[in-house]
Amino acid sequence: MSASTPMSPVAAQNPAGRRTFARAALDLGDVLLRPWAREAAELDVMLDGLVAAAADPLIARWNPLPAADRTEAMAWLELREGGWDRGDAASFAVLGGADRALLGAVGLRWVDRADGLAMIGYWTLPAARGRSVATRATGAVTSWAFATADARRIEIAHAVGNEASCRVAHRCGYLFEGTLRESYRYGDGAYHDEHLHARLAADPEPANPAA
Ligand SMILES: CC(C)(COP(=O)(O)OP(=O)(O)OC[C@H]1O[C@@H](n2cnc3c(N)ncnc32)[C@H](O)[C@@H]1OP(=O)(O)O)[C@@H](O)C(=O)NCCC(=O)NCCS
Repeated sequence: MSASTPMSPVAAQNPAGRRTFARAALDLGDVLLRPWAREAAELDVMLDGLVAAAADPLIARWNPLPAADRTEAMAWLELREGGWDRGDAASFAVLGGADRALLGAVGLRWVDRADGLAMIGYWTLPAARGRSVATRATGAVTSWAFATADARRIEIAHAVGNEASCRVAHRCGYLFEGTLRESYRYGDGAYHDEHLHARLAADPEPANPAA
């Protein structure tokens, strides 16, 4: 930033610096989003949850996780911690219930950090689906990124056949912008057309996204 460029109010509030994802917990009441971390007390539950997620056919198809066993799950989790350490990726575990069981995950990363362009993704474990968990968690992370990290534009890309993800994007206020042809190779090994959705910082909050 040049000396003559005024710092945005958001950047001024973020002690870690402009366009840095700084660790934060997002409390939605019955659902808590917390940065992935190697906290000893819950590590086993998190690792088992990741292994279960990786084995789920929908996640394996649309959002493959390299977590076939606890060792791989730990490596995945350490990469998420590294993203937080560098401020270039924000990866939240989505927890619910009194026992803080793992429900899913939301991840956000800069595509072009200098330009404020980020991409968001999500998955939920089968038992948590259909209860607006993904919508609420993705909506919360979106608002947090605009408010605290000076994100300018956040994108969601999902395979055209992944209608549940399309619904989450719509309900979180990500407008459909077009179809990308054979743009990404998914877990089934095939290149799929994708819908591109995006939200700008200036876009209105969606009305009651998880009603
Ligand atoms: C996509 C996913 C995260 C949705 O999680 P969820 O917690 O069930 O999401 P929500 O309950 O917030 O909303 C689900 C929406 O999808 C709809 N939906 C669910 N299954 C659907 C299907 N097979 N076809 C069409 N819509 C479907 C629901 O009706 C709901 O929309 P509505 O509220 O407008 O009725 C979950 O299915 C998942 O983990 N899938 C595998 C991984 C994945 O696809 N990740 C996204 C990659 S881009």
